[in-house]
Amino acid sequence: MPMTTRFTHMFGCRYPIQQAGIGGMTSPDLAIAVSQAGGLGMLTGTIGSQALSDQLDVVPDDLPVGVNFLVPFLDRLALDDASRRSPHVEFFWGDPDQALIEIARGSGARASWQVGSADEARAAQDAGCDLLIAQGIEAGGHVRGTTGLLPLLDEVRAVVDLPIVAAGGIGTGRAMAAALTAGAAAVRVGTRFMAAAESVAHPQYVNALIGASAGDTVLTTAFGEGWPDAPHRVLKSAISAGEALGAQQSWRPDWPTSASVGPLEARALYAGQSVGAVRLRQPAAEIVTELADEAERAFSEHEGAS
Ligand SMILES: Cc1cc2nc3c(=O)[nH]c(=O)nc-3n(C[C@H](O)[C@H](O)[C@H](O)COP(=O)(O)O)c2cc1C
Repeated sequence: MPMTTRFTHMFGCRYPIQQAGIGGMTSPDLAIAVSQAGGLGMLTGTIGSQALSDQLDVVPDDLPVGVNFLVPFLDRLALDDASRRSPHVEFFWGDPDQALIEIARGSGARASWQVGSADEARAAQDAGCDLLIAQGIEAGGHVRGTTGLLPLLDEVRAVVDLPIVAAGGIGTGRAMAAALTAGAAAVRVGTRFMAAAESVAHPQYVNALIGASAGDTVLTTAFGEGWPDAPHRVLKSAISAGEALGAQQSWRPDWPTSASVGPLEARALYAGQSVGAVRLRQPAAEIVTELADEAERAFSEHEGAS
């Protein structure tokens, strides 16, 4: 079944699995581990041009690793560098912008935009994207649209003919098989990789993910300091812990890393509805192969049953 897709051809990956951009607090270890395991790992350009350049320096030359940019915090020098040195440059938040797409494509990268509606998908295609990411409201982190992933995939597929990566709530191989069957060329996984051994997420954050299920997450604008009016999905417990802190609480949008101190339970503990699939801290390569093997099994069971 469809483990070989337009996405795997485009980036030379073994599996149609993309690690989501997960903000500026990342090290390159996670992205490299995902790509070495056969997926597409992602760095982030939000860290600034020098820091991104240092991270790109440690990526092996022949390894496909992409770079994610949050448009409200875009660093133009970092974008130039990423566009020259990475096979995939992608953008999130804001209207698809032809000028940004042209910078990425003009230097040889494939460009994409994470979208939350059919209108945004059409705009991303018109702006010149090579592929796009359809993000359902099940997603962890900032959430662009108001539609669940499966109906969104249908709506987006009806208006664009680009390869579509499905994002939001995918944490198991069965969910991956469902998204591929629904027409996605790949799946984008965020929350599950937050619990990878190579992730710099604070152990307390990872433990909170391990103990949570889909109903423990909520879409909110609570952690909006410095990035207002941008809904995001977090663990509900983070909001109640923040409210309990009162005036001492910081509602900044950054999630806690292993270097963070203070009341970590009240930080932005982003989690998608996929969080129930996070059961332990394990190497990224194990997550990639578990997803791919389970998706293959789901396809063959389905074939046997029909
Ligand atoms: C901790 C965290 C941080 C995120 N940061 C970003 C980001 O910087 N850029 C981006 O494009 N998406 C970001 N996202 C959203 C992902 O791209 C993706 O849509 C989401 O993780 C998919 O849902 P899932 O978490 O259920 O796998 C983030 C998600 C999480 C969980």
